[in-house]
Amino acid sequence: MQLSVVHPQKAARDHWCRALRALLPHAQVRAWPLPRSRRKSPAIEAAVTPEADCGQAVTHFGVGWKPPAEYFAEHPDLAAFFTAGAGVDHLLDLDGLPERLPVIRLEDAGMADQMFLYCLHEILRRLTLAGEYERQQREGLWRELESRPAASLRVGVFGLGALGGELARRLAAMGFAVSGFARSPHRIDGVNCLHGALQWPVFLAGCDVLILMAPLTAQTRGLIDERALAALPAGAWLINVARGALVDEAALLAALDSGPIAGATLDVFQHEPLPAGHAFWQHPKIRLTPHVAAQTLIAPSARQVADKILRLQQGESVSGIVNRQRGY
Ligand code: GLV
Repeated sequence: MQLSVVHPQKAARDHWCRALRALLPHAQVRAWPLPRSRRKSPAIEAAVTPEADCGQAVTHFGVGWKPPAEYFAEHPDLAAFFTAGAGVDHLLDLDGLPERLPVIRLEDAGMADQMFLYCLHEILRRLTLAGEYERQQREGLWRELESRPAASLRVGVFGLGALGGELARRLAAMGFAVSGFARSPHRIDGVNCLHGALQWPVFLAGCDVLILMAPLTAQTRGLIDERALAALPAGAWLINVARGALVDEAALLAALDSGPIAGATLDVFQHEPLPAGHAFWQHPKIRLTPHVAAQTLIAPSARQVADKILRLQQGESVSGIVNRQRGY
């Protein structure tokens, strides 16, 4: 078995290679691109592969993040590509991605926990009126504001997949009033799950905090536009930890300046890194982070990938296969 590991950052690429070699000692794990000095002719490569010695075809899997088109052009024999992240929009948009190549995304692998903690931190700031007290401190103002229970804060989670579903479940278990919206019906303990076009405005109207956890697809691109923002209750807070292009950035700025929105926490942007001089950088109602709400943890991710590779090798089915029509 052969694994070709691709990643734009060398340190991450090397880490993936080390982790996969340890988990799959019989596999030939190579970083792509190979340093020039270590490139061999394909004939020599094949000769050193144990399966090739036995006359069997070598199964070749791709693993990594943001592969360029040349990666797929150089590896036309991949049996599947394991993407080292949860979102696959960049991959499905790539011209060189072979039409029939199965793409398998990471499922949680330590990301759900990170997302939960990131969002909880922002929600608790709303609940404890942290922003108001910070402002009062700057003004030297000693004033008690009315505290409120968790159940009074309506949190809406848009996108109920591996990460969004877990986030909604855990927030509900903590006592927040949680609703969720997804394209299909879901059942999650303690969560009021909505779906379908008719329920979209109902969902939005019930979000004191709206958390975007949905994948970027043709249906979700720009979905949080002027109309959607206007449907939120007065004083609502937006948290986007999914993809920047879900939000119409100009409409968000307008809603922050004159609409019902109290503020936004943004971890993702239409253009990343967020360009210098972008209005979001200095906006008093925006808190932002550089796409770090849930980072890929290589050790648990490699364990998940290795486990799926072994199952595929034994002819078993695996979860996380991307449905290209659906876009996630
Ligand atoms: C990160 O954005 C991911 O999709 O995992």
